[in-house]
Amino acid sequence: MDRIALTGGVPLYGDIPVSGAKNSAIKLMAAALLTSEPVRLTNMPRLADTRLLGRLLARFGCQITESDGPDGQQSILHTPEITSSFAPYDLVRQMRASFNVLGPLLARTGHAKVSLPGGCTIGARPVDLHLKALEALGAHIDMHEGYVFAQAPRGLKGAEIEFPFVSVGATEHALMAAVLAQGTTVFKNAACEPEIEDLALCLNAMGAKVSGAGTPTITVEGVTSLHGTDWPVICDRIEAGTYALAAAMAGGEVRLTNVRPDLIGILLDKMREAGCAIETAGNTITIRRDPAQKLKAVDITTRVYPGFATDLQAQFMALMTLAEGECIIRETIFENRFMHVPELSRLGANIVASGGEARVKGVDALKGAQVMATDLRASACLVIAGLAAQGETTINRVYHLDRGFENLEGKLSACGADIRRLKSDEPVMELEE
Ligand code: UD1
Repeated sequence: MDRIALTGGVPLYGDIPVSGAKNSAIKLMAAALLTSEPVRLTNMPRLADTRLLGRLLARFGCQITESDGPDGQQSILHTPEITSSFAPYDLVRQMRASFNVLGPLLARTGHAKVSLPGGCTIGARPVDLHLKALEALGAHIDMHEGYVFAQAPRGLKGAEIEFPFVSVGATEHALMAAVLAQGTTVFKNAACEPEIEDLALCLNAMGAKVSGAGTPTITVEGVTSLHGTDWPVICDRIEAGTYALAAAMAGGEVRLTNVRPDLIGILLDKMREAGCAIETAGNTITIRRDPAQKLKAVDITTRVYPGFATDLQAQFMALMTLAEGECIIRETIFENRFMHVPELSRLGANIVASGGEARVKGVDALKGAQVMATDLRASACLVIAGLAAQGETTINRVYHLDRGFENLEGKLSACGADIRRLKSDEPVMELEE
């Protein structure tokens, strides 16, 4: 398993291009199963998660061609026929979002057998809302030996579905199933994340009739078939936020390009409140901070979009470890998302976490140490902390980072960071999430 070694204390100067969003790309790849025609996704990130999903889709008869096209990195997904609609445990357990192939397989073939994803390091993360929504669309669902057997031999039927609470995955999953259902589906209390809007717009480009995506009420007029399309993956707001926080932590001046500043408005407001200078212009964000100047402690509470993203909570906490004063970080989306706290403490941070709350008291300095990445976003927070820690920090288990950050060490070292990957031939045991 590779490790990352970095020596802190070097300010960052330069441009960082933001990649396409992992959380959108993997849903768009699953949506490509809904048509027998090719779907060309551009602005595609090359990540462990997209590769893993590609392996799963190939089992269903999807041919995937990756190349550098006229618009940059692209993947063409073509599934002339679904040759199998069985998603085995070994592939689904490695990435929870691959469970979302169930809806498209069911919508296109009328049946699917997909493994339940199981728990993960940030919480139990059940899929009950996904299954209830598919049942409401007329699917017959059975569960045996850890597998979901779904059937709708005469097709899915439109329905009115009110989610009891907001779920990104359940909204996207049900949306992909509803586009080929007979009649009208109305989703209430739907998630409003930008990746859902991206998915809906791509589905519309494939011939679907979805309106209201990006708001809590989404209406879908079912169609009988979808066709191929070209679609650019929306920029990765979590990657953008992570580099914005990295720049703030290290100090210097970094310009993020290929980004939509409106997607991380709350984060940028919180960073300004903490004392960072931030300018946005078109599709760029510039973060400036004098490394000698202390930041102020600022409270945050994670919320569904457009609130503060839970996927940026760990990275923001890293920034706060060196801020002046004390702040409270509240996590309201996942029940176990403070796994990074003991690792930050190894670097000298002063954090007390209990229940869904962490109290962070800024310290004068962090000191490099060996730490362990526990999940994708937590590993990014350790990189951020390491950028400001005195001496060398070594991060173990960086396969977590490879799931969602494309060329992280290349992007940071291009801005002057002293960061390198220590290669290892030891196999990656499992991805765990
Ligand atoms: C997605 C994102 C993840 C992000 C999260 C919240 C992807 C691949 N992942 O995850 O990065 O952190 O949104 O913004 O896009 N829940 C249930 N039952 C369900 C579904 C969810 O109880 O059927 C719970 C979850 O355990 C969690 C909460 O609802 O506590 C929100 O989860 P959800 O919005 O579904 O997150 P994901 O789609 O898994």
